[in-house]
Amino acid sequence: MKNTVLTFKQAKENGEKLTMLTAYDYSMAKLIDSAGINSILVGDSLGNVMLGYEDTLSVTVEDMIHHGAAVARGAKNALVIIDMPFMSYQTSVYDAVVNAGRLMKEGRGGAVKLEGGREMCDRIKAITECGIPVCAHLGLTPQSINTLGGHKIQGKSEEAAKKLIEDALLVQEAGAFAVVLECVPAKLAALITEKLSIPTIGIGAGNGCDGQVLVYQDMLGMFSDFVPKFVKQFANVGNIMKQAFADYKNEVGSGAFPDESRTYTIDDDVLERLY
Ligand code: KIV
Repeated sequence: MKNTVLTFKQAKENGEKLTMLTAYDYSMAKLIDSAGINSILVGDSLGNVMLGYEDTLSVTVEDMIHHGAAVARGAKNALVIIDMPFMSYQTSVYDAVVNAGRLMKEGRGGAVKLEGGREMCDRIKAITECGIPVCAHLGLTPQSINTLGGHKIQGKSEEAAKKLIEDALLVQEAGAFAVVLECVPAKLAALITEKLSIPTIGIGAGNGCDGQVLVYQDMLGMFSDFVPKFVKQFANVGNIMKQAFADYKNEVGSGAFPDESRTYTIDDDVLERLY
């Protein structure tokens, strides 16, 4: 069944957990979609895991459209959410609306996600009023890595926790249909989840959230540059891939690949006339 923002609303009302995974291309989107995952996030984490940048700041709207459209072609039932990249919405409400529109029209997403709380509420409201669903993102917001001073858990002090709760209520009021909570203490995330009528999607925020999101390379053991504490490797596909590449190298070297079953034939009499 097709997942929409209504699926998110109903899941919250019924206490059903939501699942979200990132994807950045057609084949992976098809695999994730076929597993019945509710939503595919075309995260700007593509800057790290697909493009090899050290942070997400260099990711462009064009990158997000290119990867978003590929994912949208592969996702038949999952709700495709496309991240708004750094400086595509921070600059003004106008830029936010224009760029969110591009992610929907050209990237064919079903929703967009942007980072930030109270300071982004005017953007969330304006985009939502155009008929574009917005998922908010609070806690560790990687686009603000330079002001946060690194990948640190957020909302630990009373003041920071209160601000996070207020921000969550404000983005909800501004029209967000869901909010990602990244690297937030589990009990604080559970409290925010209790206070909100929109679903919370946690990443490093404990199991008290309404749903969970992971970067697929992390949960498949395919990305080892940095492995956060909250990541569980559900399979070590990275090792399986490395072994397959080594087997391929060996079999090509020995001539075992390609064998006869994978080879096309030509009639001997045709061949003879060629000498
Ligand atoms: O870009 C991304 O993959 C994200 C998730 C970590 C939530 O924003």
